[in-house]
Amino acid sequence: MKEKQNYYITTPIYYPSDNLHIGHAYTTVAADCTARFKRMQGYNVYYLTGTDEHGQKIERVAHEKGMDTRAYVDGIVKNIRVLWEKLLITNDDFIRTTEPRHRKTVQDIFQKIYDQGDIYKSVYEGWYCTPCEAFWTERQINDGQCPDCQRPVELMKEESYFFAMSKYQDRLLKHIEEHPEFIQPELRRNEMVNFIKGGLEDLCVSRTTFKWGIPVPFEEGHVVYVWFDALTNYLTGIGYGVDQAKFDTFWPCDVHLVGKDIVRFHTVIWPIILMAAELPLPKQVFGHGWLMLEGGKMSKSKGNVVDPIILIDKYGVDAVRYYLLKELTYGMDGYYSEEMMVSRLNAELANDLGNLISRTAAMAERYFDGIIPAPVQMEDIDADLKKKASEAVAECERQLDRLDYSLALTALWRLVSRANKYIDETAPWILAKSEDEISRGRLAAVIYNLTEAIRIISIALAPFMPTLPVRINQQFAFFTDPRQLNWDDARQWGLTAPGSRVNKKDSLFPRVDTREKPVDQEKKEEQPSGKALEEQDESRYITIEDFARIDFRVAQVKAVEKMKKADKLLILTLQVGDEERTVVSGIAKAYTPEELVGKKVVLVANLKPTKLRGVMSQGMILAASEGDRLEVLTLSGDFPSGSQVR
Ligand code: MSP
Repeated sequence: MKEKQNYYITTPIYYPSDNLHIGHAYTTVAADCTARFKRMQGYNVYYLTGTDEHGQKIERVAHEKGMDTRAYVDGIVKNIRVLWEKLLITNDDFIRTTEPRHRKTVQDIFQKIYDQGDIYKSVYEGWYCTPCEAFWTERQINDGQCPDCQRPVELMKEESYFFAMSKYQDRLLKHIEEHPEFIQPELRRNEMVNFIKGGLEDLCVSRTTFKWGIPVPFEEGHVVYVWFDALTNYLTGIGYGVDQAKFDTFWPCDVHLVGKDIVRFHTVIWPIILMAAELPLPKQVFGHGWLMLEGGKMSKSKGNVVDPIILIDKYGVDAVRYYLLKELTYGMDGYYSEEMMVSRLNAELANDLGNLISRTAAMAERYFDGIIPAPVQMEDIDADLKKKASEAVAECERQLDRLDYSLALTALWRLVSRANKYIDETAPWILAKSEDEISRGRLAAVIYNLTEAIRIISIALAPFMPTLPVRINQQFAFFTDPRQLNWDDARQWGLTAPGSRVNKKDSLFPRVDTREKPVDQEKKEEQPSGKALEEQDESRYITIEDFARIDFRVAQVKAVEKMKKADKLLILTLQVGDEERTVVSGIAKAYTPEELVGKKVVLVANLKPTKLRGVMSQGMILAASEGDRLEVLTLSGDFPSGSQVR
């Protein structure tokens, strides 16, 4: 039998200085998605998270609250554990830096580096940012503020132990150069290379002015610098010094997933500690972006933090996890607002995915008494759906391996959209009207194929939305155990046994009423009943006649000018067949006039003309939008302007 491959993934360990917010939840959810995915692929996974409990900042916060530091952090750590349970996080261990097992690792590593001569005593004189627990030189600070968090730094002068980092500078640069995958995404690697080339200084690794830390093993009165202590958790968590077999199984770590603000600690200090301790370096440090608010960062002091527990209680764990993983694109920041979250949930979960599932289940019940038929009478369009399924799963897998959760979901949504379109193209309701054998055979194939697409989608979505397969299984009895899925089964077409039962239930992702008040302002209201939801569902549809009333046309952009005193608006002159039209469009932030001239776009030609800033706008052009991103729909090729779009 082939031996299982091992996979070790970590999150940063969180400061229990306060309860965590939705931004913190991102890292843990993302790492959980990877851990689940790797387990489904058959890896022997170890997923570690925990809390970073020492340091001046936490000691101060506890004292400000008039509490004993230990009692204070115990309370917050309890809340953090509850949050991870609610988010269905499958960590294999939870490490607290105040545990004796960790104290031992830190002291061993500190002693080891001291013994080999890379830790020495001197006097530290410089600046310290307590919120970041980071040392800065005079040259690095800006106007008395921390260059990372822009909060005031404090002048420090104390006798300390120093870590001879500077002598490792060239070795570290060489490692980064020879292992391009070590720091990802590339943007972060470039930042770090520049930082290191700017010159590394020896690091102060002990403090004497407070007590809340791990004592330096060879001198009383000194506690180990909190980042030295914290980074070492990655070794403690896999049994460093106590369980050699476990340690050898999982070290070096496959990926440390961290936020962009702490990439420096993980790609400069941490590898040098490991080099000095003669241990292999982790294979990768991945620095993801931040979840921001319109007004900037989320912070307790601004009073604008978003509590993930309230969102989970309101929208459900799958929806919150989905939102987080979709919103942050590869290494970049994402923007949170409850409105944007709700519109994503309504469009992508309720409409696209929810409708695919409920339409298929309803048709299986209506046309085949809830028994999945055997797929007879296959056609080319079926082969295309099958091909799209295998492409979507392969692409999802590729993106998950790069830790691009958002693109992984986009790949799966291509299959969701293809399957929805397949319903429209095969029009099962028309096939159902014919009694002849061929139509009946076609109808059977269509329902079977849709069911297969749903089975595949629910497996591939399991790492993102862990309760989805369980809930889908209540309607389609796909899996013997929906909690133990195998990624290989998503790669194969045809695993659903004809004859299995379908049981249509309430919509898996009910639409959220956008008129509802945001969570922080409201009291929890009763959920509508299943029947009410279905009625609500019906009223959302438009008929084909409604759709036919909209006159979409291909239009060619002839000229574009900027609207004066309106930085979002452009005035477009369009050629639509023989006719010329003027359209005012709010796309100036995404396009320069030059970029648009000559493009073929889609115009809603019979929209009632309206005056915008004094200009009569005769229609509207279509564009996709997502948060701040915007892209005008264009046609490639030589489609004549004036052609109808349907
Ligand atoms: N204790 C250190 C980490 C030590 S790891 C050896 C720490 N803790 S933290 O609680 O301040 O932050 C933990 C993680 O949360 C960091 O990766 C940070 O980037 C992340 N986030 C904090 N706010 C965030 C957002 N708004 N969005 C996304 N991630 C955010 O740093």
